[in-house]
Amino acid sequence: MIVHLNHLQRGQAAGAGGLVSVLFDLLDEGRADPRLLPHLRVHVDWIQYRQNFREAVTVRRAIDTRGDPLALAEVAVDLRQVRPETLREDLARALSAATAEGDDTGRHILLEEFVPLGQSLIWRFNRLFWQHLAAWEEVSGRGFEQALPGSRSDANHPVAVADSVADFWTLLRDLDKHGQLPPEIFILEIGVGTGTRAALWLDRFRELDVERGTGFYPRLRFLLGDYSTPILDRAGAAVRDHPEVSFIAMDALNPIKTLAFLRYRILHIHLTNVYDNLPHDEIVRRDGRFYLVEARAYLPDADRIAAALGFPPGELAQIAGKLLDIGPDYFGDRRRGVAWWRAVWSGLRLEERLVALADLAEAPLPGGVDAVALEEMLRGAPDDIRFHLSSGAAESFVNTLPLLHPRGYLQVQDIFVTQMEEYRQGFRGPGKLDGSVVNWVNGPLLREVGTRAGYDVHFAPFRYREGSRTSILYTTQRD
Ligand SMILES: C[S@@+](CC[C@H](N)C(=O)[O-])C[C@H]1O[C@@H](n2cnc3c(N)ncnc32)[C@H](O)[C@@H]1O
Repeated sequence: MIVHLNHLQRGQAAGAGGLVSVLFDLLDEGRADPRLLPHLRVHVDWIQYRQNFREAVTVRRAIDTRGDPLALAEVAVDLRQVRPETLREDLARALSAATAEGDDTGRHILLEEFVPLGQSLIWRFNRLFWQHLAAWEEVSGRGFEQALPGSRSDANHPVAVADSVADFWTLLRDLDKHGQLPPEIFILEIGVGTGTRAALWLDRFRELDVERGTGFYPRLRFLLGDYSTPILDRAGAAVRDHPEVSFIAMDALNPIKTLAFLRYRILHIHLTNVYDNLPHDEIVRRDGRFYLVEARAYLPDADRIAAALGFPPGELAQIAGKLLDIGPDYFGDRRRGVAWWRAVWSGLRLEERLVALADLAEAPLPGGVDAVALEEMLRGAPDDIRFHLSSGAAESFVNTLPLLHPRGYLQVQDIFVTQMEEYRQGFRGPGKLDGSVVNWVNGPLLREVGTRAGYDVHFAPFRYREGSRTSILYTTQRD
């Protein structure tokens, strides 16, 4: 058995010590199958998201691609959720469920079958949230930004916005000096939220342009793209003072598909907190072998949840499907629909299993990423590692680069892992925010993808808010 301490959270010594002691008591009492022990790994985490997809103690079993059990098994413990009074019972149940014959699903309502994480229905819930944001906020009584660290989005930090405007203005002046400034100056923001950043940015740009007398503002064509029409409408109200803004319903996964007419023409593209909201897969490497993480969504404590939701347990999966297809109006009374949706979201957990891959090429690789790129990314990474295959982010990145003008740049503010070692030093998601999914993004993967496409990719810390975990990815075409 190997015990992995995956976090550096201070003040958790007693919790971790208590866990190891209970574990050894159970082993002394013969509560673990001796065949399991040589292959068992116990992962001790401290999950920073108050809401997440894990129970305090969970089991991950390994199978081959035919579905036959393999020896590897993992028990994962979230110290933050552990309750000393139930730890012993939870661990004993996990040790018994971790054997090939074990089963822990009796008390669950399954909402789907096992699928690669990127295809789980949590992403449909995420989309539902952005499509029906106003209804959710009306019931929760607070805006989505209040669920963020510091209760505000780093997108809207006034100094960061002013610096972004100054950098862009400098680029325009340089292009102008060399007679290379196009008559129309295109700029794109994807995943626009409240539209506050766009409004601040445009206000500041107009101000600077007037101050310097450069006449760039009237040539500006600012595009706001999002897959949620209600979000675009909300952003429209925020930028109503700026008539040259266009609103584009588009999927962040494939911007070039919607904007092909702007290939090589956009001088600046910005996204904040969008990559962390796109579907991803995860890969685990144990003893030199790769496994794909598959997940299935479930509701624990079936009877309690069913009683609270007012439907028999057997109907919950079907009703959740209707909610995802139709939205909260499916219930006739929208407020009741949102209350139901919030209860399901709050209860929803993910059970995981590890599916052995013959090699990395068998993983569901996003377009623009091949096994060689992954091997390059893993060079020098810890042998034993669980990392994100940031499928949605990589796809979006690859499908955004062709829009950039040869002197243009893409700027992405997000929670990036910038070195592979960081995957061994804390929980990197997915976490739940109020209604949506949040997930760290694999920076080394994007660096590798960018390099192969002929772009330089840099990361800098977001220095505008103390304690911020955000980094800024900056991409330009290589000379
Ligand atoms: C977490 S919010 C960030 C909003 C804003 N950029 C900020 O930082 O405050 C994510 C935004 O991305 C949008 N979004 C998420 N997935 C998307 C997708 N696949 N295509 C287009 N927009 C998407 C959501 O509708 C929402 O506006």
